[in-house]
Amino acid sequence: MVDVEVYGKMLSTLPEDDDHPYRSGAWRPQHVEYDADDLDVQGELPDDLYGVYLRNTENPLHPAIARYHPFDGDGMIHKVSFRDGRASYRNRFVRTDGLRAEQEAGRSLWAGLAEHPNHAIRADGWGARGRMKDAASTDVVVHAGVAVASFYQCGDLYRLDPLTLNDLGKATWGGKFPRDAGVSAHTKVDDRTGELLFFNYRTKPPYLHYGVVDAHDRLVHYVPIELPGPRLPHDMAYTEHYAILNDMPLFWAPELIERGLYAARFHPELPSRLGVIPRRGGSGDIRWFDFEPTYVLHWTNAYESGDEIVVEGFFQGCPAPASAGPNGPKDRMFRFLAQDVMQTRLHRWRMNLVTGATSEEDLSDLYTEFGTIHHGFAGRPYRYNYAATNEPGWFIFNGLVKHDTLTGRAERYQFEPGVFCSEVGVAPRVGGTEEDDAYLVTLTVDMNRDLSECVVFRADDVGRGPIARAQLPERIASGTHSCWAPGESIAGW
Ligand SMILES: [Fe+2]
Repeated sequence: MVDVEVYGKMLSTLPEDDDHPYRSGAWRPQHVEYDADDLDVQGELPDDLYGVYLRNTENPLHPAIARYHPFDGDGMIHKVSFRDGRASYRNRFVRTDGLRAEQEAGRSLWAGLAEHPNHAIRADGWGARGRMKDAASTDVVVHAGVAVASFYQCGDLYRLDPLTLNDLGKATWGGKFPRDAGVSAHTKVDDRTGELLFFNYRTKPPYLHYGVVDAHDRLVHYVPIELPGPRLPHDMAYTEHYAILNDMPLFWAPELIERGLYAARFHPELPSRLGVIPRRGGSGDIRWFDFEPTYVLHWTNAYESGDEIVVEGFFQGCPAPASAGPNGPKDRMFRFLAQDVMQTRLHRWRMNLVTGATSEEDLSDLYTEFGTIHHGFAGRPYRYNYAATNEPGWFIFNGLVKHDTLTGRAERYQFEPGVFCSEVGVAPRVGGTEEDDAYLVTLTVDMNRDLSECVVFRADDVGRGPIARAQLPERIASGTHSCWAPGESIAGW
């Protein structure tokens, strides 16, 4: 029998009969926090699956002031830890400053992504745009033994114990955290050096910064990067010796920013630019390379190959679609959430540091995104990534694809209709040496049975389907990013 404790429930003022497309169905928010030890398992959980899967989700507690966008929802981290063939679960809201203030007020205080900043009740706020709530709801990584939740529009970094999810406060980086600009989601942890690489972006020069935090959580490098104007980078990449930043031709129209409007426009007449900077390089050391215009939400990996830097990620064939398509929600603001409509294909960009030559190619015809890898191969030559297919028109994942970047082969697993998964964590098998000698861990949203499960796949046999599944106390909301942290990387494990 599963021993489930209800830790608490946050105050919510959402209506019971909420029919917002991204606050209902598979996105119905969860408001209760649970502790569940020793989950009931169907199948067999391998005892060489050893560590923690963390997943961030958006769970709004209050109606938006005017228009809700799913990226506004309050961040909630789900944790499933595996040890000795057993699994335990917890979920906790990230105790952000914004969440605390709105709990006290009993309403939303800041303007969301789809709202004019002037809608905000409070004059302060976070985000490259300003007057937003930093919901810490986008991403989660483990750095220096501690879970770190972050926000895509730049904000504070919230630290949690990766096992208990106890609030450990905000990152200070030895008193040098860049509070003026904040830090973007998709910080990158290099397990080999213990460093955390990061960037931030804003609408005033310098428009971009790049930095490095060392293994002791101290800011040791922070440099401005020159750009032609405000940009909207979402992710970065790195290799053994370089960080890779980007200047993509989809950004807020500068003339509208001056009027307080933040509308992303695609400029097919401009190139995509990748900037390669030595990991401790200065502002003048960055070299830019031009490529076909697109927008890239997520990079999967990068590595060095002779004189070349190779970067892989998801090229958008249609970065500015007219709608979310015939199957998606009708509101146009949701068109940027449908990866099939944006035609996101796995892609490879190459840059020769000696000759300056570039080349690029698609690696797959499939529309996939949210690709994760065996983290031991991050920044180094690698072969496999594990990405998600989406329900047409929607930001929900209905299947997994294992991309073999060497052969182009794709191995698929499709969940049954009405069952959705999250971005997978790649858990190297303890003692394993091959790149795909690993397990894939994901959380499902099962609309048919009104429940969620943690399911485990073998990375070398994705098509076989789950080898084990464990039911969670309540159906979770769909959400954004996840990570896997091996047991030995966690403080107090
Ligand atoms: Fe992301």
